[in-house]
Parts: sequence; structure tokens; C-alpha cells
Amino acid sequence: MIKVENIYKKFSEWVLEDVNFDVKKGEFVIILGRSGAGKSVLFKIMVGLLKPERGRVLYDDFNIVDANEKELINIRKKIGFVFQGSALFDSMTLFENVALPLVEHYKLTKKEIERKVLASLEAVDLRGYEKLYPSELSGGMKKRGAIARAIVANPEYIFYDEPTTGLDPDTAEKIMNLTKRLWREMNITSLAVTHDFHFTKNVATKIIWLYNKKVRFIGTIEEFKKIEHKEARAYFIE
Ligand SMILES: Nc1ncnc2c1ncn2[C@@H]1O[C@H](COP(=O)(O)OP(=O)(O)OP(=O)(O)O)[C@@H](O)[C@H]1O
Ligand SMILES: [Mg+2]
Repeated sequence: MIKVENIYKKFSEWVLEDVNFDVKKGEFVIILGRSGAGKSVLFKIMVGLLKPERGRVLYDDFNIVDANEKELINIRKKIGFVFQGSALFDSMTLFENVALPLVEHYKLTKKEIERKVLASLEAVDLRGYEKLYPSELSGGMKKRGAIARAIVANPEYIFYDEPTTGLDPDTAEKIMNLTKRLWREMNITSLAVTHDFHFTKNVATKIIWLYNKKVRFIGTIEEFKKIEHKEARAYFIE
């Protein structure tokens, strides 16, 4: 269970004000918001990459906002993060990229690492490509590689920042189905930020809508479709 409580964040101006919601085990939570709404900032706060001005993010009662370096490493073992734009390292092969979380935070033998990396690549249909470099992969393959890296250490939670943005419709559909399959088969509590309403309709068990610094809606897709706020209707529904 993750609880986001009273989060406030500003850079030169306020980006988030009094953001509150929770993520229960087994949910697939989608955070909707237009470009610049603060979605990536919110995700970074939730995984401890950015500090908010105020508020707490609790993982089963542990507040990641106050965590020290060592505590952060421990809590991040529960989390897989798929960055907006994949963020695979160009100088490493696909295998090395996917192995990275294991090499950095676990003491495993070469054999164990190989087994986990190959299983993870298998789960995203990338077996056989492990020796290739990111520059030799298509956009959809890079995205799947980033997902393989995020799940390699068996996380409890996975965060996807804009999983389908910048992909053609067929590839976006494949990534959508992959996120759904991992959620269902591997039982990973999943969160995504997006402005892709097709993706949202197909995966979300709960929708959170961010608008003008605040959470304006929390509920199911059926409830969201009845929303009266004209910005939400104009941007997502109509
Ligand atoms: N490190 C930073 N320093 C200063 N301002 C920042 C920083 N990161 C984000 N911002 C600002 O915070 C606001 C929210 O940015 P954020 O990246 O969270 O938007 P987003 O909802 O993810 O948008 P997109 O859909 O385009 O990815 C923007 O106005 C952005 O310029
Ligand atoms: Mg973003």
C-alpha cells in the first residue's frame, strides 16, 4: 500500500498543492494530466528522486520522503521504474542494461544474474536480442527493454512514466498489453502517468486526474466518463 499525503512541490512556481491519494495492493492506478501538469514530478517524489516542500509518501507506513540513502536503497528494491523515454544506457548492451539493478543492489552469482535477466527478457518478448545495443533497437523494443530492467528484481510496484507516448499505434497497443499482462500474471501493483485515454480505459482500476496543481478526481473509468468538469471532458472524453 502506498499513501500519498498532502504533497506540495514548487520550483519557481507551485506545481503540486495538497495532493492526496492511495494505491492499494493489486491496483493499476493511472494518473491523468495534460503536459506540464506535474505527473513526472509526482512520480519522482513518490520514488524518492525529488523532495517535496511538504507531505509524506508512505510505503506500508514507511515515509520515503524522510528516508536516508540506505533506507532509500532498501525501499527502491520494491520499486521498478520505467522512465519517460526509456533511459537505457547507450554504452551497454540490452543484457547489461537489464542486469544493472541486480549488479548494483544484490550479491548474486553470474549464473543467477543471467537466469533472472533472461527470464525478464523472455517476459517482454526480447529473448535473443540481449547482445544488441540500444541504438540497434526500435522504439518499442527499447521500451520493452526498460520494462525488463524494471521487473528484473521482482518489484512489488512498477511505475510507468508515459509508457505509450511517442510510439506508433500498433507498438503502443503491444506495450499496453504487456503492462496489463505483467500486472495480472506477475501480480505487480502498477502505476502509470499518461495522457493516453485509450491506454487508461484498457488498464486502469483507478483513475486520478491532476489539474491545476491538485487532484480533481479519484475513481473508476465508469465514474470518470461521467465527470462534469469541462477540461476533463474536452481533453480526455470528447
Ligand atoms: N527540475 C526541475 N526544475 C524546474 N522546474 C521543473 C523541474 N522539473 C519539472 N519542472 C516543472 O514542473 C512542471 C511539471 O513538470 P512535469 O515534468 O512533472 O510535467 P508532466 O505532467 O510530466 O508533463 P509531460 O506530460 O509533458 O511529461 C513543469 O512546469 C516543469 O517545467
Ligand atoms: Mg512527464
